[in-house]
Amino acid sequence: MPALIVTAHPDPESLTQHIARRLADALVAEDVDVETADLAAEGFDPRFTLADRHTYQVGGDFTSDVSREQARLDRATDVVLVFPVYWWSMPALLKGWIDRVFVNGWAFDVAPDAGIVRKLGRLTVHLLPVAGDDIGVYERHGYEQALRTQIEHGVVDFCGARRGVTAFVHDSEREDAAARDRLVAETVELVRAAIAPRD
Ligand SMILES: Cc1cc2nc3c(=O)[nH]c(=O)nc-3n(C[C@H](O)[C@H](O)[C@H](O)COP(=O)(O)O)c2cc1C
Repeated sequence: MPALIVTAHPDPESLTQHIARRLADALVAEDVDVETADLAAEGFDPRFTLADRHTYQVGGDFTSDVSREQARLDRATDVVLVFPVYWWSMPALLKGWIDRVFVNGWAFDVAPDAGIVRKLGRLTVHLLPVAGDDIGVYERHGYEQALRTQIEHGVVDFCGARRGVTAFVHDSEREDAAARDRLVAETVELVRAAIAPRD
């Protein structure tokens, strides 16, 4: 069960990166083969270019950086997106990664007779959004549901991948480090158990 952990945060000291490292350690301890895609450190370019538009139009002919990301995903059975919530959604860096990588010809095909052919059935996608606000704000305004609809249904279901665990870490900027740490531990454990269940 090789797992790919994808992060989109420029600060190695951020809570997001800390959670990604904790999750990687927890999975490695269960003998999971973990690969990390640190999109900020690796300088992934999220801008949708003319070459990406060409890919969209022909359903293939991927640029080399897109092919590299697809190959990492092809090696994984589970992918975990660990990201800070920005404006009730994912950061532009991660959105650009999805825009450019999860494209027709790889994630799905558009067949004239059969409609959409979903191609990522081998992959389970877990989401670990790190949120500044508390759970009450998310519930009152429907932000959690909006984010789930957008990514779980709009991306994961669309490509035929399996929905894994979606586990928010709320109050990410609170002063109480012990409480934050407890929540991080619980969240990491949820994802760990989903990827590497113990008998
Ligand atoms: C541009 C920007 C937009 C943000 N928008 C939201 C938001 O919509 N909802 C929310 O709960 N937190 C929001 N936050 C707070 C971040 O989620 C918070 O800073 C982050 O979770 C802290 O974790 P980190 O140390 O990994 O950055 C925003 C922060 C930034 C910088």
